[in-house]
Amino acid sequence: MHKIILDCDPGHDDAVAILLAAGNPDIELLGVTTVGGNQTLDKVTLNARQVLTISKLLDVPLYAGATRPLVRPVEVAEDIHGDTGMEIHGYELPEPRVDVQPDHAVQFIIDTVMCEEPGTVTLVPTGPLTNIALAARLEPRIVERVKEVVLMGGGYHVGNWSAVAEFNIKIDPEAAHIVFNEAWPVTMVGLDLTHQALATPEVEEKFTALGTDLADFVVALFAAFRKNYQDAQGFDDPPVHDPCTIAYLIDPSIVQTQKVPVDVELTGALTTGMTVADFRAPAPADCHTQVATKLDAPRFWDLVVDAVKRLG
Ligand code: BDR
Ligand code: CA
Repeated sequence: MHKIILDCDPGHDDAVAILLAAGNPDIELLGVTTVGGNQTLDKVTLNARQVLTISKLLDVPLYAGATRPLVRPVEVAEDIHGDTGMEIHGYELPEPRVDVQPDHAVQFIIDTVMCEEPGTVTLVPTGPLTNIALAARLEPRIVERVKEVVLMGGGYHVGNWSAVAEFNIKIDPEAAHIVFNEAWPVTMVGLDLTHQALATPEVEEKFTALGTDLADFVVALFAAFRKNYQDAQGFDDPPVHDPCTIAYLIDPSIVQTQKVPVDVELTGALTTGMTVADFRAPAPADCHTQVATKLDAPRFWDLVVDAVKRLG
């Protein structure tokens, strides 16, 4: 059983990550925290409330976090996630029945890690790393108590927010720099991996076949995500990045990894936000970072379908 905090910015694919985490029996979702990223904090937090409501996860505590990157101005991914941050068509989102807890997300992360047994809590960030970096700075003792950080972000061959930088890292590179340079184990589930998690029409059919309201929501997410990815980035089918982190935790045989040092470029004229992975073998003995390389896509999708089915 993996105890996790999912720190996200829903986001079509963040929504699917919530469903996979909540619907899989090997994951204990201690809480969901939000961070400004795909859209402003208020919008992604509303989206998280709606996702938790649709999936009847009324008892999962939700906390709102940082409104903006540590140093740089707010930048959102409107062309990919729309004005709401989770744009969908032909599906009526419910009135949220989940409240946002009064504490700040960063405080919740710290309190949870400090209260749970050391080495038992995994942080799963699927948005910019602002909350995680702030938590590490505010309470440095969390670094040795966290079991691992499994994050969606970066890439070692491709970018999507510049030629070489991925969105989550590019919009708050200083936060990413902190997270990659702390001594905790970090698994980078980057674009090299997540571009293999395509929601093809065949995948969509598996959800349609479930015939539930929640599955209809997922199909609507995929349809809108596909259109935006076609228009903005020339994909045929959308890459559903964020749940790959959860799939890796549930069954690491679905996501192959390689241990390599990774650092974040902060000052490059063309490369700011690039995750620089050093593949020169062998990795040093104290290397605490690894990158995801290869996805077993059919088994990944089986996990997501199973989770959506279990959520009913
Ligand atoms: C990442 O950026 C966001 O748009 C997605 O939710 C994902 O976390 C992909 O680059
Ligand atoms: Ca995200």
